[in-house]
Amino acid sequence: MTHVNIGIILGSTREGRVSPQVGAWVKEIADQRGDANYTIIDIADYKLPLLGEPGGDASKAGAWSEAVAKQDGFVFIVQEYNHSITGALKNALDYLRDEWNNKAAGIVSYGSVGGARAAEHLRGILGELLVADIRVHPALSLFTDFENGTDFKPKEVQVDSVNQMLDQVIPWATALKTIR
Ligand SMILES: Cc1cc2nc3c(=O)[nH]c(=O)nc-3n(C[C@H](O)[C@H](O)[C@H](O)COP(=O)(O)O)c2cc1C
Repeated sequence: MTHVNIGIILGSTREGRVSPQVGAWVKEIADQRGDANYTIIDIADYKLPLLGEPGGDASKAGAWSEAVAKQDGFVFIVQEYNHSITGALKNALDYLRDEWNNKAAGIVSYGSVGGARAAEHLRGILGELLVADIRVHPALSLFTDFENGTDFKPKEVQVDSVNQMLDQVIPWATALKTIR
């Protein structure tokens, strides 16, 4: 059977962000499974202006659409900013509609309480975009899975959590492919 494509989306774009460390760790675990084609998708690469902003250069929107359209499912790397997701991730989600519809997603979040509040906000947004969010949710603590809040040193138990999350994402991503 052909493998599904799963995009690992980095939700933060600020200078000094830790999301690339977390995304690379998820991809390393995922690649060892050999059950899907996993790709890091970095929102920062697309330099998306705010949606509909007058004078904004929307020329990158096509590439963003293409990158998301290619995927059958997603793992969102979510960081908590003021109890929610980043503005960059919300903007990137708002840009597209059909490209998200009828796909599956897992969430890996981080923050002082594991990014739980941001992850729950994201679930509400995903519902509107017809993205089926799975239950298992690796939640990383800035205090115990990072050193000084910046050097990512995840506890071993988090590896199991990522695998359990992917165990749910892959079958849903595979099933939803049949209705698109
Ligand atoms: C604007 C801003 C707001 C934040 N608000 C929260 C918050 O409400 N709760 C929390 O747990 N952490 C909060 N943090 C801490 C971030 O979760 C932490 O800095 C994390 O590393 C950000 O992800 P990034 O490095 O990928 O950008 C905030 C950080 C920023 C920059």
